[in-house]
Amino acid sequence: MPRATGVIINPDLPDMTEQEQQSQQHPDRDRLTGHDYDGIEEYDNPLPGWWVWLFTLTIIFAIPYVMWYHLGAGPSIQDNLDAEVEAYGAQLLAIYGDLQPDAPTILDLRSDQAAMAGMAGLFKGKCAQCHVADGSGDVGPNLTDDYWINVRDVTDIATVLTQGVVAKGMPAWDRQLTQTQIVLLSAYVAQLRDNPVAGGKAPQGEFVEPWPQTTIEIVVDEEEPESGTDERLP
Ligand code: HEC
Repeated sequence: MPRATGVIINPDLPDMTEQEQQSQQHPDRDRLTGHDYDGIEEYDNPLPGWWVWLFTLTIIFAIPYVMWYHLGAGPSIQDNLDAEVEAYGAQLLAIYGDLQPDAPTILDLRSDQAAMAGMAGLFKGKCAQCHVADGSGDVGPNLTDDYWINVRDVTDIATVLTQGVVAKGMPAWDRQLTQTQIVLLSAYVAQLRDNPVAGGKAPQGEFVEPWPQTTIEIVVDEEEPESGTDERLP
């Protein structure tokens, strides 16, 4: 407990207050803050000038910062990210043009390594939270196995991405991604099953035959359904 000042504590110095008595015994008494914790006392040192200035500068800096970034038109981190994603979409559009979600396009793009590397990044950013970065599944199904819930044909992947399966927790992506991005991402998803991940989520849905390996296979299948002849020479 702090003792009240003015109480005489040394009977040999009866005319002095406690403070006066202590400053006689302790030459530094005037430089102390007066706190006393179990006999440990504190000097009342001023903060260093550079520290005070730095502190003042941070306050001065904070005022326009808050006004511009929090109250004004300054871009948020989300705005910057959206702008980057949009720029990336525009860049892809410039490279690939307006891609159509048909089977030959999706199957061919699987072997475009630059596109697949880009889509691996997009998948990590947008899809990994539910499907895991390697596609092995968590909240969303395993995309590396041969079993699919909503997909029978490779083009169904693009449909699922565009429309989502909103009732089951798969978002629709047509607002956030351009069609070109969706086609590229569909190709990325289509090739995930070439590298099944051990220990992924258990298969869901039905077995789907491997995708046709080449574009030609599709063209033949589509253009000559059960032709019955063997005249398929180029
Ligand atoms: C919020 C979680 C979530 C996110 C994010 C998400 N998905 Fe899904 N996804 C799901 C769920 C859940 C399903 C299963 C829907 C069902 O049961 O019909 C699914 C299904 C799918 C399917 C169909 C699988 C099948 O077997 O039919 C594909 C393909 C797919 N997602 C790809 C993606 C891609 C690509 C992205 C990123 C652009 C993505 N998903 C982001 C949750 C998510």
